[in-house]
Amino acid sequence: MAKFRLPANSRIRKGRHFPAADGAANARRFVVYRYNPDNGENPCMDTYEVDMNSCGPMVLDALIKIKNEIDPSLTFRRSCREGICGSCAMNIDGSNTLACTVTADSIKGDVKIYPLPHLAVVKDLVPDLTNFYAQYASIKPWLQTRTPPPPDREQLQSKADQEKIDEPAACILCACCSTSCPSYWWNSDRYLGPAALLAAYRWLVDSRDEATGERLDDLEDPFRLYRCHTIMNCTNTCPKGLNPARAIAETKKMLAERRH
Ligand code: SF4
Ligand code: SF4
Ligand code: FES
Repeated sequence: MAKFRLPANSRIRKGRHFPAADGAANARRFVVYRYNPDNGENPCMDTYEVDMNSCGPMVLDALIKIKNEIDPSLTFRRSCREGICGSCAMNIDGSNTLACTVTADSIKGDVKIYPLPHLAVVKDLVPDLTNFYAQYASIKPWLQTRTPPPPDREQLQSKADQEKIDEPAACILCACCSTSCPSYWWNSDRYLGPAALLAAYRWLVDSRDEATGERLDDLEDPFRLYRCHTIMNCTNTCPKGLNPARAIAETKKMLAERRH
């Protein structure tokens, strides 16, 4: 049987261990992926013991405590701490999710934290999202109209039409779904992935948009859309409870109906 190993410079070595402070009554172990492109060393897993009696309940609280009190070199993205900005997306206990919405208590044993999978790592828990954002931009995520808007009011939408965009518009572009998708792992250069396709769907079903034909033309491609094989990892992992797999299936249906 073929065996695959990571390239020599990507193999993860054992890292440092930071024991809990003296007197810590409720220590948890956080085992965190570390990679520093500037020191030429392989990535490693550092272990931090955090006293949860003096820490907020979320995994992000623990990471912030580690950075503030134990190891200021630890690098990760975060902003809102409310599950809204999408910047703290990472792989926690084997699932892609938002560190600010997961409690340490919900995880059994050591809390293992990696960056989102199958992306180049900029540093520690920070993945390179350049391609992900370029793919989002490629679906033209803005309203396209030809009819001039009414001079005296907004361009209105019925309640029913507005509800069609409610769910896809709730995407926070955290990238948890795309980086959990096997098709995206292997073809992220050509397959748009579930996040960008959910965004494309959001504009396809917007009753005010007048570029539906061009948008469907752009998606009618064996790779950009049809690399989705309905594996459903995307929907299972979305921390906002959205359903990109259904949006992709609906988009394929729109293309099929257009052909007949
Ligand atoms: S669909 Fe969900 S998992 Fe995917 S980018 Fe949007 S919020 Fe994140
Ligand atoms: S349903 Fe499609 S987009 Fe979602 S994980 Fe599966 S292949 Fe990827
Ligand atoms: S910090 Fe904004 S989603 Fe977690």
